[in-house]
Amino acid sequence: MTKATTRYVCQQCGRSAAKPLGRCPQCGAWSSMLPEVVQRKSSKRSGPSPRPAPVAVRLSDVGGAVDERLPIPIKEFARVLGGGIVPGSLVLIGGDPGIGKSTLMLQMALATTAEGPVLYVSGEESERQISMRASRISTVGAAAENLFLLAETDLESILAQVDNIVPRIVVIDSIQAVHLPGIDSGAGSISQVRECAARLQALAKQTGIAVFLIGHVTKEGAIAGPRVLEHLVDTVLYLEGDAYHAYRLLRSVKNRFGATTEVGVFEMSGSGMIEVLNPSEAFLAERVLHAPGSTVAVTMEGTRPLLVEIQGLTSPSAFGNARRTANGVDFNRVLLTLAVLSRRLGMRLADQDVFVNVVGGLQVDEPAADLAVAAAIASSFANRPLPADVAMVGEVGLSGELRAVSQLSTRLREAAKLGFRRIVVPKAFRNPEESPESIEVMPFRSLSDCLSTFLPGL
Ligand code: TYD
Ligand code: MG
Repeated sequence: MTKATTRYVCQQCGRSAAKPLGRCPQCGAWSSMLPEVVQRKSSKRSGPSPRPAPVAVRLSDVGGAVDERLPIPIKEFARVLGGGIVPGSLVLIGGDPGIGKSTLMLQMALATTAEGPVLYVSGEESERQISMRASRISTVGAAAENLFLLAETDLESILAQVDNIVPRIVVIDSIQAVHLPGIDSGAGSISQVRECAARLQALAKQTGIAVFLIGHVTKEGAIAGPRVLEHLVDTVLYLEGDAYHAYRLLRSVKNRFGATTEVGVFEMSGSGMIEVLNPSEAFLAERVLHAPGSTVAVTMEGTRPLLVEIQGLTSPSAFGNARRTANGVDFNRVLLTLAVLSRRLGMRLADQDVFVNVVGGLQVDEPAADLAVAAAIASSFANRPLPADVAMVGEVGLSGELRAVSQLSTRLREAAKLGFRRIVVPKAFRNPEESPESIEVMPFRSLSDCLSTFLPGL
């Protein structure tokens, strides 16, 4: 027996209450508590439970110790997942609208049809639209045999199709578009998202089908119903990038089967997403050598070193309040760097507008890029270029000291590989024997030592 009750559920965090509230008591969001009708099973049991009681098993009796994964021919994708697709895993992929989630997942679906049937469910596009997209991406050919398309939003019918086709991989585009008819709230509401994801998780665990969920991101940058979904799934990937730039980063923020913070780099082209196997080279391709205000930072994205060009520009401000703009780096770290430059190096930046930009639409959050940011600003302020063959890495502390960064030898090797002759590192760096021969390691104790070497008389 079931009875229906109305609950008020916060659409941001999933907190529910019996009465309507103007503000969610858990996450503090205003006007986010919307009514949802919940079908409750009567607590009175009628007859024995239909499910057999579960039995605990010995660890030694559990198979699957071998790391069995479905290979993905898209190397950058495989890297982010930790080597390949784990059967029975539930993967959530989030990102801004139009960033390329559907394109990338369709490419993945096309590329993995050699492993068995793949079902691509779209609640947002018709089969024809998907097929048009597929032919835009690649010469579909043999893959078309094993790729099944379904334009459907009712999860019950989707699951029925899964029973029919028995695919190895299912893609749901998107989790906000599907709904279960038993729940009385609209598709995309937190109850629907939670219940649908739970059903798909059960499907993945029971059948060993790998399920990919595409999730939309809210204005605040979280996948709608974030807590709910991120707990439920095995892996959370974000596809990021600047819609005005071609580069897209696929980043793993949670992965039960591999390293987190791993990054895959793609480029959006006229025919789908192309892997960028040597991203540092791509990010430096348009660099103008010997231009004031430009330098190269060696950052780490997961286990991969990435060289990026950092640009700084200072310009006398026309009005009283000097402006600071940071593109691709943390705004507060830029403010901190500016404070260090003016207090420890005596640079007069109070009446200067300052702009910092990371080339390629990349977001660099690592403190190890501080030194490059400071050097780029100082170089623009002095209107003198920094040497083109120098890369920089180091965190800047409040006293203007250069602080050690992690994985320095990996960074050194990447800088050497890209032809840099010199690299500035924090003095605390202790194992220079690991550095490649072709690159000169220049340790500095402080930001002012470093800048007075490259921009004397600043
Ligand atoms: P899409 O995958 O639909 O984004 P999402 O599912 O994340 O909303 O990508 C949409 C954008 O990508 C759209 O602006 C067109 C562009 N695009 C290309 O540039 N090349 C292509 O081959 C494809 C299929 C799309
Ligand atoms: Mg889409």
